[in-house]
Order: sequence, then structure tokens, then C-alpha cells
Amino acid sequence: MDKIVVEHLDFYYGSKQALYDVSIRIQERLITALIGPSGCGKSTFLRCLNRMNDTIPGTRVEGRVWLDGEDIYRPGMDVVDLRRRVGMVFQRPNPFPQSIYDNVAFGPRILGLDGHLSLDDIVEQSLRGAALWDEVKDRLRAPALSLSGGQQQRLCIARVLAVEPEVILMDEPASALDPIATLKIEDLMQELKTKYTIIIVTHNMQQAARVSDKTGLFWLGELVEYDDTSKIFTRPAQQRTEDYITGRFG
Ligand SMILES: Nc1ncnc2c1ncn2[C@@H]1O[C@H](COP(=O)(O)OP(=O)(O)O)[C@@H](O)[C@H]1O
Ligand SMILES: [Mg+2]
Repeated sequence: MDKIVVEHLDFYYGSKQALYDVSIRIQERLITALIGPSGCGKSTFLRCLNRMNDTIPGTRVEGRVWLDGEDIYRPGMDVVDLRRRVGMVFQRPNPFPQSIYDNVAFGPRILGLDGHLSLDDIVEQSLRGAALWDEVKDRLRAPALSLSGGQQQRLCIARVLAVEPEVILMDEPASALDPIATLKIEDLMQELKTKYTIIIVTHNMQQAARVSDKTGLFWLGELVEYDDTSKIFTRPAQQRTEDYITGRFG
């Protein structure tokens, strides 16, 4: 099933166009990888999906983005709730300079607790969901910044899980991590995809091939090709995809 449908998306930073007529259907509970050379619009595209670009002055969007059939750019859209539903993890782990506990509790405290779970339960569940609980359960009050880089990134994932997202956007989430921490994130993604729709930007093609079900190749602001990952990496339809995956550019 389609979770996100993007139709004819153009994006501008002032007069500079960064995305050209991008259309894509992102399927629910799969991992979609977006690959392509640096500067081709992958991060810009990701930020269009939860309207994070709205925070950059002078930007403009044309086209449509539907989340479960709802136009997220329609007037009156609740953008705070949109960003709760479509959470984001960045390249550099960015925990707040607070305790591990307070990092995870931050969103639920601001948005209000919903339902029957206590804050302690939400924190535990989120840390378990991010495969971090066993490593931190005895030191929840320790500073988040005392964790290793890989742990900090999983903490950022726990922070997203705590507000019950539907989609998780990951912008090169492992590019600042060592190989072991990277594998932990990749394993975690396989668990997360049973519950969430995941879109990951990566410039690491091996990673895209390992973790994703679908792959899209961006090039100069266009989506060149989008298909099953196995097809993209073995029998791409476009010459530019073939050139990219065989290392002829980018
Ligand atoms: N805040 C910004 N203001 C102006 N131009 C930007 C901004 N962010 C990105 N760009 C430009 O948009 C294009 C796409 O960038 P980006 O989405 O970051 O690419 P990628 O993530 O694929 O490396 C690049 O030409 C980049 O310079
Ligand atoms: Mg980027």
C-alpha cells in the first residue's frame, strides 16, 4: 500500500530550482533508499515530506505530497502533528544536552501523553524499540552526550519513536558512525520496518543494496529511476543508473 504519494514536485530555494517534477509512490512498511551524488536534492526531497523546508526562508514548493491520502501542503494542515507522524533522524546524532531519559521524554512531554502509558513506560518502550534499552537502563539519568556516537544515533531514533510516528526519514544516519555502529543501525532498521515506513538517504550504495526494498536514484534534482532494489542494482532501466552504480560518476 502507498503511504506517501508525491506528484510533480518542484522545489525552489529562492530562484534556484533544486527538485524537478519528482513523482514517487512510497510503500508502507518497506525501506526505501534514496541514492545519488552529493547536491542532487536527496535531503531537500526528504525535507519536503514533513515540511521541514518550511523553516528555510525564501523556499517554494509546487506539486503535491499525499500522506495516507491527505495533502500535507493544504492550508490548515497541522504541521506539528505532521512532523510527529513523519519523524526525522539526521546525519550527525543531535541529542539535547540533557539526560538520556529527558531526551526520549521530550516529545511526549511537549505533545502531551496519550492513552494509558506512563512516561516511564514510553521511555522504556522507545529505548527498547531503538535497541538501546539494555545498554542504558541502569543510567537513564546520565547525560546523553556521554554515550558513543552510535548510541547517540539510536537515542535519536528512540526520541522519534516516543511520539509514535508512522514514517521515519533518515538522512545519512550512519555516515558519521564506525562500521560496527553502522551495522547496528542497519539491523535496527529491519526491526523498525515491521511497524514503520522508512526512507533513508545514503551515499553508500552497499548500504542501500543491503537494507532497502526500493531504491530511487536522484541526479541533478530529478528522480532518474525508482524500482525494486534488486532490479536497480542488477538490471537498471536507465543508463545513468547503470553509470552511477558502477561508479562511473558521483
Ligand atoms: N538551505 C539551502 N539554501 C539554498 N540552497 C540549498 C540549501 N540546501 C540545499 N541547497 C542546494 O540544493 C541542492 C540540493 O541539495 P541537497 O538537497 O542538500 O542535496 P543532497 O542531499 O543530495 O546532497 C544543492 O545545489 C544545494 O546547494
Ligand atoms: Mg544531503
